Amino acid sequence: MKQQPIGVFDSGYGGLTILKEFIHTLPQYDYFYLGDNARAPYGPRSFETVYRYTLQCVQWLFARGCPLVIVACNTASAKALRTIQQNDLPRINPQNRVLGVIRPTTEMIGTFTRSNEVGILATAGTVLSESYVIETKKFYPHVKVYQEACPMWVPLVENNEYKGPGADYFVEKNVKNLLGKGKLIDTVLLACTHYPLLKDKIRAYLPDHISLLSQGEIVAKSLEHYFERHPEMESRCSKQGTVQFYTTDSTEDFDAHAATFFGKSIHSEHVNIE
Ligand code: DGL
Repeated sequence: MKQQPIGVFDSGYGGLTILKEFIHTLPQYDYFYLGDNARAPYGPRSFETVYRYTLQCVQWLFARGCPLVIVACNTASAKALRTIQQNDLPRINPQNRVLGVIRPTTEMIGTFTRSNEVGILATAGTVLSESYVIETKKFYPHVKVYQEACPMWVPLVENNEYKGPGADYFVEKNVKNLLGKGKLIDTVLLACTHYPLLKDKIRAYLPDHISLLSQGEIVAKSLEHYFERHPEMESRCSKQGTVQFYTTDSTEDFDAHAATFFGKSIHSEHVNIE
């Protein structure tokens, strides 16, 4: 079987914070990154819509040859992944695989907390799905999960306002709300791939004893372990160390913004997905 790149998908730019860690931990592989910027944000959209958009994007990456697609978006992982894995994959391409970001994160989350109270900051879609609560319970039944939806944070990041005073207002409000829900919270997880850009601001509103986690490193380590357990998939992934970027919206906008998330300048190609 011909070796092909690993597909990484997000509603927009957020997944680049995950891709950056994949490249850091697993630099030998080739990657195709697809940002569905034309239809972002996914956070406030219905289950049906997020499922339909995510399936279209996964199928596009499969059609490009990717044997493995990582849904590097919590909202899409929460709302669409299970249905795609259980209902669509056996029909579309039973040899291929689609993985998300919630399971690898919840597998590890209990190792970071001593008080057994964890706070989750996420989009409204992820919070409403209860995915973090349900998945954490499977691995760490004694850990209590408190959630806070932060509907303004993705728009602040997407509109390049994440360093401004408007961001302070919303970050302070949501962080205070979260800490008010669980008095013993000692670990706060950024359960949206956009939020690492707000990390400094979030840190400023958290007491020092609370650890702040982003998912990138956790998910990258988990992919490394996945390949150790699944050599049949590892051998289908090409290894030239290249990355190609695709966006469903303007390439000029994508290239201008993506550098902030990815840490390097990039050149994207436009694709139509519907
Ligand atoms: N980056 C996505 C996540 O991790 C959210 C962005 C969106 O709402 O589209 O949930």
